[in-house]
Amino acid sequence: MNTARILIVDDERLIRWSLSQPLIKRGYLVETAESGAEAQEKMSTFKPQMVLLDIRLPDINGLELLKRFKSEDENLIVIMITAYADVGSTIEAFKFGAEDYIGKPFNIETVKQVIEQEFAKKKLKKQAEECSHSIDQQIDEDRLIGNSPEMIDVFKIIKRCAETNDKTVLILGESGTGKELVAKAVHLYSRRSDEPFFEINCAAIPDHLLENELFGHEKGAYTDAGKRQKGIFELADGGTVFLDEIGDMPLPMQGKILKAIENKRYRRLGGYEDIDINVRIIAATNRNLKEMVDKGQFRIDLYYRINVMTINIPPLRERKADITHLAKYFFNLFNKEYSRNIENISPIALELMLSYSWPGNVRELRNSIERAIILEDGRTLTASNLNLSSNPEAGSIQFESATDQKNNYHHNNDDSKKTHSANCDKLQINLPHEGIAFEEIEKNIILQSLEKHADNQTRAARFLHLSRDTLRYRMKKFGLI
Ligand SMILES: Nc1ncnc2c1ncn2[C@@H]1O[C@H](COP(=O)(O)OP(=O)(O)OP(=O)(O)O)[C@@H](O)[C@H]1O
Ligand SMILES: [Mg+2]
Repeated sequence: MNTARILIVDDERLIRWSLSQPLIKRGYLVETAESGAEAQEKMSTFKPQMVLLDIRLPDINGLELLKRFKSEDENLIVIMITAYADVGSTIEAFKFGAEDYIGKPFNIETVKQVIEQEFAKKKLKKQAEECSHSIDQQIDEDRLIGNSPEMIDVFKIIKRCAETNDKTVLILGESGTGKELVAKAVHLYSRRSDEPFFEINCAAIPDHLLENELFGHEKGAYTDAGKRQKGIFELADGGTVFLDEIGDMPLPMQGKILKAIENKRYRRLGGYEDIDINVRIIAATNRNLKEMVDKGQFRIDLYYRINVMTINIPPLRERKADITHLAKYFFNLFNKEYSRNIENISPIALELMLSYSWPGNVRELRNSIERAIILEDGRTLTASNLNLSSNPEAGSIQFESATDQKNNYHHNNDDSKKTHSANCDKLQINLPHEGIAFEEIEKNIILQSLEKHADNQTRAARFLHLSRDTLRYRMKKFGLI
């Protein structure tokens, strides 16, 4: 399974920033484009699975671009973004195959939710089409790496769980620790491995669809139910159903699932016939279920039902012995995948990885290495391309160049873009009559420098005579990362 790639197409730099940063943090691989031409180029080089597309672009109408993208790849997920939402363009966008539509200004949490829902829907569709996977391929793609004592314990528990044929398994661990891989491993090492493995993300599927996806429906069960549809419990018959993010399952649904598990049978929506359940259920969550039970947010009876065998995956910072091993594994994987000939990882980069706290766990490690492999020009993978999101050691603002503090600012009507910071005496900034917040100027200069250097923070920092950490500190201060 590759990291999901998202291309953001918008001519406004701040929009590109405010969308890309939270998505990168969430674990997506993100590229941006400011025009239709750049977007088309990135479609062929970056090959995204999803595009967030602005309707008004400087060189082409976003709807036209949508049409082209969809004709080239009908599986591409396109979400339109615009400040000028109107019925006409919305209908056009859906007609040309856009999956969703988001108006500006947007709430980033809503955007993230829409993105996750779309990916989850795509995954369900793919699973239903394939129904069963080639196990060899799966083992290869989903290899669980780890040689720390903590991970070896996890492997032993996986084996024990796999040996029990139908006991429910609960997997707990922070986001990005590998819960999904562990769930697949339990399936692959069990006697059910020749049967399907079906996964459903309870957080990403809207409440009203969840029941339908799990249990299926009879023809006419509700307005849109055109024909009978099998649910996941039926499709996965004999195999495994993975209820991911079970902590986010709405309370009424929790009751329905509990009843089905206890009775080992259920009915399709609108159906009269009982269907026997013959699947193993694996559930996972990164939330504290015990605490949720105490707060009345998770049913205690369901908690005990699913908590028969538990696998706790420790966060990466608590099993540092795995870091080098994982880093080398991902390095080889992506070097091959992107046909790069990078020979090794620099000792400083490895050092940095070992001292970093990895809040996003293995997912963050995997993504930083994938990114670094794509960006690296030389023969050695260097620390600067790892783009680690926070450095606990960094913190204070430092001016590396003393001249920065001595700049003379003149009132002048010249275009400030013509000035060069290298020659500080000539730096001229147009100051409005009513005054301006100093931080506005600072933020603007940072944005211009990033723009000038195609978002390369190292070069942008050098240009401003700042260390990269200082630049990142300031970007954080201004909400740019
Ligand atoms: N031990 C591991 N070996 C190899 N790859 C791993 C390992 N752990 C995690 N990964 C990789 O890290 C990424 C995140 O893993 P996964 O999706 O299983 O995490 P998760 O715990 O389900 O996260 P979330 O709670 O956010 O859903 C995946 O790309 C997965 O392949
Ligand atoms: Mg997961």
